[in-house]
Amino acid sequence: MARLILLGPPGAGKGTQAERLRAEFDLVHLATGDLLRAAVAEGTDLGREAKRYMDAGELVPDAVVVGMIRERLSGGGSGRFLLDGFPRSVPQADALDRTLSDLGMPLDAVISIAVSREELVRRLAGRWICRRCGRSFHEVFNPYPGTPCPSGDGTETCDLYQRDDDRPETVSHRLSVYEEQTAPLIDYYRSRGLLREVDGERTTDEVHDQIVTHIPAPPGS
Ligand code: AP5
Repeated sequence: MARLILLGPPGAGKGTQAERLRAEFDLVHLATGDLLRAAVAEGTDLGREAKRYMDAGELVPDAVVVGMIRERLSGGGSGRFLLDGFPRSVPQADALDRTLSDLGMPLDAVISIAVSREELVRRLAGRWICRRCGRSFHEVFNPYPGTPCPSGDGTETCDLYQRDDDRPETVSHRLSVYEEQTAPLIDYYRSRGLLREVDGERTTDEVHDQIVTHIPAPPGS
């Protein structure tokens, strides 16, 4: 089986790598940031509450995100998943542990993507995302090639925007929140023998190649 977590600071490339791994390894990609942004776009009560925290660069309360992930993991499916942006605190990791233990689905690996703060700031400042297909581009490192959007009818190009929380002052706070609340998960998973570390400052292809060495192959391959 492949039950994986992609762990890393804002801008480490979790979403970029997850998009490719999902297709290649037949994984269900669960990204709490994407789920929360969808709730914001739909204008649900949860979305309105979450937006206040997201715009400030703070973590959304644990109970909200734990509930979202528990619901999706308990909903059946192949049991092959890639968590991106979750867990993000020790209480979230403990809650995930309990959920996976109840479901009899132990984790295979936690892949930690390391990138320096200076590089993270550069990446987030130049990031552009497609509203339709969700792919992330970078104006310098990974420019949008102008090809048709895979979510469209084959004639439309991607509809690119910059995230509100990628403003410089919010980025700086998100990086501090990561250091305080999420970075302790590196030791948390290392002590359980699950941590696999990759150098996130290489090209996207090179980071991908490091990650795949830690992923069990799909059944029948
Ligand atoms: P979320 O959406 O999860 O954002 P994040 O963790 O801050 O991560 P990002 O999406 O910013 O970065 P990424 O690592 O995916 O990088 P990307 O691939 O885009 O969370 C947003 C907010 O939601 C949080 O602040 C919080 O409020 C809330 N939230 C979410 N989950 C939560 C949880 N569990 N608990 C509580 N609150 C939660 O890449 C970045 C850029 O770099 C792109 O432009 C890309 O093209 C470029 N790039 C990628 N890889 C490379 C490379 N190797 N070389 C050069 N450029 C690269």
